[in-house]
Amino acid sequence: MKKLEDYVRSIPDFPEEGIIFRDVTSILQDKDGLRMAIDKIQEELAQVDFDLVLGPESRGFIFGVPVAYNLNKPFIPVRKKGKLPCETVEMEYDLEYGTAVIEMHKDAIQPGQKVVIIDDLIATGGTIEAITKLVRKLGGEVIKIVFLMELEGLCGREKLKDYDVVSVIKYE
Ligand code: PRP
Ligand code: ADE
Repeated sequence: MKKLEDYVRSIPDFPEEGIIFRDVTSILQDKDGLRMAIDKIQEELAQVDFDLVLGPESRGFIFGVPVAYNLNKPFIPVRKKGKLPCETVEMEYDLEYGTAVIEMHKDAIQPGQKVVIIDDLIATGGTIEAITKLVRKLGGEVIKIVFLMELEGLCGREKLKDYDVVSVIKYE
């Protein structure tokens, strides 16, 4: 039987020279790969007491929504700047290639709510570090962070050392 990592396609020098791009579309386009990915993320949350799932645009949506749905929790989208229509909080951050600004709605988290963050991949950790800051700003508590893939060589986990962080597939 195929393992989840067998479904990941790795593309050298995309989107820039020197980057090995870990492509999730090759997981998603296979029904067994898709099911295995969602199940593995969900298993990490089986014993966790939390109120809501939060995921960053866009790959965090793909994995966050089905897990939230299956566990009967709400899903909060964190979007790239300029997409959300109501009052937002925002944070700038660095990526493996470039910088970006993310936003979430101010009323998406109530003080004291327990938050789980789901994303496809941790590289530098900049995206999720920015999200943890937004969650704290709104009075929420990050209970657990689950990634499908982790690029260990970029040491993104060091930015998240105050949190319970797990990843399903690890790359050196
Ligand atoms: C990718 C990926 C993570 C983030 C990881 O998203 O899906 O969210 O980068 O990088 P980091 O750990 O260095 O922050 P990207 O911003 O490229 O957006 P996309 O999902 O829309 O492709
Ligand atoms: N996001 C940031 N770095 C990435 C990588 N190497 N592969 C896929 N997505 C990424």
